[in-house]
Formats: sequence, C-alpha cells, structure tokens
Amino acid sequence: MDKFYELRRSYSLHGLEDCDLVDDPVTEFRRWLQIAISEAPEWFEATAMTLATSDMQGAVSARIVLLKSLENDEFQFFTSYESRKGQQLAGNPHAALIFFWPHLERQVRIEGTVTRTTRVVSEAYFSSRPRGSQIGAAISRQSRNIASRSELESRATVLEKQLAGAAVPCPETWGGYALSPRRIEFWQGRLNRLHDRILFERGENGSWARSRLAP
Ligand SMILES: Cc1cc2nc3c(=O)[nH]c(=O)nc-3n(C[C@H](O)[C@H](O)[C@H](O)COP(=O)(O)O)c2cc1C
Repeated sequence: MDKFYELRRSYSLHGLEDCDLVDDPVTEFRRWLQIAISEAPEWFEATAMTLATSDMQGAVSARIVLLKSLENDEFQFFTSYESRKGQQLAGNPHAALIFFWPHLERQVRIEGTVTRTTRVVSEAYFSSRPRGSQIGAAISRQSRNIASRSELESRATVLEKQLAGAAVPCPETWGGYALSPRRIEFWQGRLNRLHDRILFERGENGSWARSRLAP
C-alpha cells in the first residue's frame, strides 16, 4: 500500500485578520488573483480552477478549467455545451470552483449558480483565441468517445482545408458560462494546521455577511 504520511509541509507565509479583507469578497478575490498571477512561477497557471458539477442524481464530477473573465461579479469560463460538464450544468446549474495557489499557501472556494454567457460574449472570446485553439474547439466533440488520436487530427486537417484561410466560426455548441457566487471562502495556510478561513455568504438582499470558520 502506498502511504504519503511523511509528505508534509507547514504553512507560514501569511496570516488572515478580519481587517485584511474588504467587505466585498469579489473585490477581495480580484486582489488575491492579481497577487497569485504576479507572484506565480513561470510554469504555473494562476487562473486554473477546479470546477465541480453534478448530475440530476447528485453524482459529482470535477475538472480544471481556466477563468477567463470576471464580469458583473461573475466568474466566466468557456467550454463545450455538449461536454459532460455542459450536460450536467444543463440539468443542475449549481456548481463550485476552487483556486489553489500553493506559492501563496492560499485556497479560494466559490459556490453558486451558473448561466450561459450571451452569444456575443462567447464569440468575442472565441475570436481572441489562437487559430489552432479555435480549430480544436470546432472539431472536438468534447467528452465523447473517439476511435483514435488520428481521427481528431484528420478532422482538424479537413476543417483547415475547407476553411481555406477564412475565419473559424464559433461553434453553436461552444461558449461561456458565468458563475454567480453566493458563497466565497478565503483560506490561508497557517502553522500547525491552525489555518485561517473567512467565509462570505450572500443574503437575499444581495449583501454579503462574513464569518470565521474553524480550520
Ligand atoms: C490547466 C487546464 C486548463 C483547462 N482549461 C479548460 C477550459 O478552459 N475549458 C475546457 O472546456 N476544458 C479545459 N480543460 C480540460 C478539462 O479539464 C476537461 O478535460 C474537459 O473540459 C472535459 O471535461 P468534462 O468531460 O467533464 O466536460 C483544462 C485542463 C487543464 C489541465
């Protein structure tokens, strides 16, 4: 049996006092994200986040996606609407996001509900992507079985030929989701596992209430 009992880090970079966080958690998140990006090692994707979704029976699945925009206090990411996550979100819009920034010993947990972004937003982001990524999104039926890698590559070659240099249209089945948060928790690692956890919960009237949680 593999055990990892001896793999242990202690966290001591920062503390988290109540006065360290502003009243609006999305503003605070922006600040943490900027620090995470500016202090990240070159290889680290600070905008990568775990997205957890679940199906109508409550079975959960999770995967990494990239945060592409924070607009109107909503967290936007882009994907295939026909993917497994897309199908789960169509049946159950409740989702959770997690950012882990090991270089800051920080985690942020966000929970809320997801809606599709407008087509205009999806197309605007799609058109900003490198052509290779656009082709990839256009030919990949994300999450479906495929016979081989060469099937994928030949679909890409065929589409490139068909387009003959023309712009790649944003597929109807591809676009953005925006998660509107109702819970945001800031976690800061501390010594002896006495970590700091500050939770913000959004009330009916849209205002945020904060509390401190035991680690
Ligand atoms: C660093 C990283 C970034 C990723 N970014 C995205 C993304 O922005 N959108 C996306 O659809 N998949 C992204 N993926 C792939 C997903 O993790 C996943 O494999 C894919 O979306 C299919 O998930 P599903 O079958 O649960 O729908 C990323 C993977 C990694 C490791």
